[in-house]
Amino acid sequence: MKIIGTGSALPSLVVTNKMLSEFLDTNDTWIFTRTGIKKRRIISTETLLDLAVSASKKAIKRAGLKATDIDFIICSNVANNYVVPSLSAMIQGEIKATCPCFDLNAACTGFIYASDIAETFLQTKRAKNILIVCAEEPTRFCNWQERDTSVLFGDGAGAVVVTAGDDMKSIRLTTTSNTDVLYYSRTLESTPYLNNNEQTIPLVMHGRDLFKIAVSAAVEDINIVLDQAGITAENVDYFLIHQSNKRMIDSIRHTMEQSVHKFPHNIEKYGNTSSASILILMDEMSRKSQLKKGDTLVLSAFGGGFTSGAMVITWNLNE
Ligand code: ACO
Repeated sequence: MKIIGTGSALPSLVVTNKMLSEFLDTNDTWIFTRTGIKKRRIISTETLLDLAVSASKKAIKRAGLKATDIDFIICSNVANNYVVPSLSAMIQGEIKATCPCFDLNAACTGFIYASDIAETFLQTKRAKNILIVCAEEPTRFCNWQERDTSVLFGDGAGAVVVTAGDDMKSIRLTTTSNTDVLYYSRTLESTPYLNNNEQTIPLVMHGRDLFKIAVSAAVEDINIVLDQAGITAENVDYFLIHQSNKRMIDSIRHTMEQSVHKFPHNIEKYGNTSSASILILMDEMSRKSQLKKGDTLVLSAFGGGFTSGAMVITWNLNE
């Protein structure tokens, strides 16, 4: 595959650490030193669908295509207020595309999973132009009375259009069932045969465990995809790591023994936007002309499940 268009969209509301400290027992120093986050964007007046549609339209426009040229849509989304229909079906209607589409949930690793599916559809010529949208509102899963998770997240959407090409050099997906370190559970309706007494459990995260599991999975994934692509970390121009926590990104970089400039980040502005984070960063860098044709990029993500994945791509999008 090759990426021919990128787009992203963020909520209008900017929430600083200081604003959180007005109703949570927290402060800017704690949040910034533990996570690297200064502020985040949180959905208030717009909807997740608005963001997903906006990011998609930008990516399609940048690709020089019309929505009717898209012949497959994959949307990565952990949860939104609809279970059915899928978010991708709603996006399809709003952008006036006519193709098949589906949602996938691989937590924060969604973009890497979606890319592998897109690559397979392109290789088998099942599709020509695929829209991948990652749209997430993790701030809607948190308990806003609890300071331990609510300070970490932000909402947003990122999108790419991919077509047939030779820019994906290697990819790896993993899932190791670990359902305790990060979960969010919603109740289903009771039936005549099952009285459901369970309650929604807002996002539960065992931060220290997650930190260790995620960093070691990312380093392993990255080393394997580099090996598969027949290159070393020295050949990589940028490592676009899931923006979960600046300390996790730093830890991966230290282990890889690479310089700071190779690990770009925007978590300080947007918090952790789950599977959208890599695409928001990629779109931002691309539009600022920080990505040059021929650059070698490693993308690496990890999330609840526990899922992880990485891929090596060559950047070939015209500025
Ligand atoms: N403000 C102030 N104090 C806080 C806050 C807060 N927002 N949250 C927790 N604390 C307190 C705790 O209550 C605790 O107080 P105590 O010592 O009196 O008991 C103290 O800070 C230390 O708490 P820990 O949870 O041990 O803090 P830690 O240093 O581990 O940092 C953090 C927590 C930032 C979550 C860390 O574990 C981490 O970075 N984990 C990685 C997880 C992550 O970033 N996940 C992202 C989402 S998942 C994903 O995208 C894959």
